[in-house]
Amino acid sequence: MNVLIIGSGGREHALAWKIAQSPHLTKLFCAPGNAGIASLATCVDIAADDIYKLRDFALQHHIDLTVVGPELPLTLGIADVFQEAGLRVFGPSRAAARLEGSKVFAKKLMQHAGIPTADFAVFDDPESARRYVIKKGGACVVKVDGLAAGKGVFPCATPEEACTAITRIMVDNEFGSAGNAIVIEEFLEGEEASFICVTDGITITPLPSSQDHKRVFDDDRGPNTGGMGAYSPAPVVTPDVERKVMTSIMEPLLHALSSHGIEYQGVIYAGLMIHNNLPRVLEFNVRFGDPETQPIVVRLDNDLLELMSAVVDKRLASYTVVCDPRPAVCVVMAAGGYPGQYEKGQVIQGLETAASLPDTVIFHAGTAVKNGVVVTNGGRVLGVTARGDSIAHAIERAYAAVRSISWHNVHYRHDIGRRALGR
Ligand code: AMP
Ligand code: GLY
Repeated sequence: MNVLIIGSGGREHALAWKIAQSPHLTKLFCAPGNAGIASLATCVDIAADDIYKLRDFALQHHIDLTVVGPELPLTLGIADVFQEAGLRVFGPSRAAARLEGSKVFAKKLMQHAGIPTADFAVFDDPESARRYVIKKGGACVVKVDGLAAGKGVFPCATPEEACTAITRIMVDNEFGSAGNAIVIEEFLEGEEASFICVTDGITITPLPSSQDHKRVFDDDRGPNTGGMGAYSPAPVVTPDVERKVMTSIMEPLLHALSSHGIEYQGVIYAGLMIHNNLPRVLEFNVRFGDPETQPIVVRLDNDLLELMSAVVDKRLASYTVVCDPRPAVCVVMAAGGYPGQYEKGQVIQGLETAASLPDTVIFHAGTAVKNGVVVTNGGRVLGVTARGDSIAHAIERAYAAVRSISWHNVHYRHDIGRRALGR
């Protein structure tokens, strides 16, 4: 099979690494890719959201399967455009991708299907939104309706903070048209986990559970990022919690989508808040998590091309996902200053030593090759991922590799996986 992966992050490197191990693979392409992906695939200089150019490339190069990493091309309708051209694609249609592309759509669908989630109200003008938060009092979470690269969620301790968020979104228009509508939610307490499934629209199958670390500094301090590290499995997702997620969230969601005429195909990722063993949905994503995919793929024993083909060909009912019981941990190494301003072009040292350590894989995110050397080229630079006999062992291995890599002004968290150790 000729395969095209779309995207350029650690998630896409992890998918490429796993797909490259498949005996079904003939040729692997990635658009646009990064320096790490370039060692496994031919990188093509087409942006991930240039969906018509990607379609033309796929037709010219006889691509048998396209795997879409990020959400933007999915919400733009890449799956529809590829299918209309007779191309096989792993990822949901534009209508289905609204589950991530519109929080208003997702919340209303959950309400309609009785899926446990935070209570909420929807507003399209700032005055009534302000009146609502003042009347309610206390903490709440204000969310931009549309895509905002993870920056459109404002947890607010007081109505005053919520009013500031409402002004930024609806008066100052910081998020453009993505902020034309907002969702205001009840503030939920608990422990978060990422629950990622694959579905062919008929069957829905969970992949190993995982947990992300969203804040930039140790002990969950500082601003939210795209994710500073992840581990799998997440001990908070006990077999009992997993059963509840499947029966009270995932299966009703699939039914609700199909009753809207939406045939879902690809990944459904539920961001969960779990309290007293009861899971509630914070958000849905329509793609693999980043960095959660890194520890998940190193634990997955299946051939990923076979799994994805089972999804695309609607054969998931007869397919079994098998996973290594050993835990895996991914520590993200970032450019100092991320998620704010940061420098690019710093020379990265020690990659080969790190990659030679046992059960360790270095996934690239923001990297590029300049004058023959690998340099930093983004905020999240590497996802150093290791497997171990226990979570403690995996943490030890991942940090041993992290310590052997360096560049000027590198930043990483020192406590990835610590919460799992406590359980
Ligand atoms: P989202 O993009 O909707 O998952 O929100 C991003 C982050 O904001 C989540 O990972 C949580 O840490 C936090 N968050 C979102 N919604 C809520 C909520 N209703 N209660 C508490 N925290 C939330
Ligand atoms: N790690 C969070 C996300 O992929 O959305």
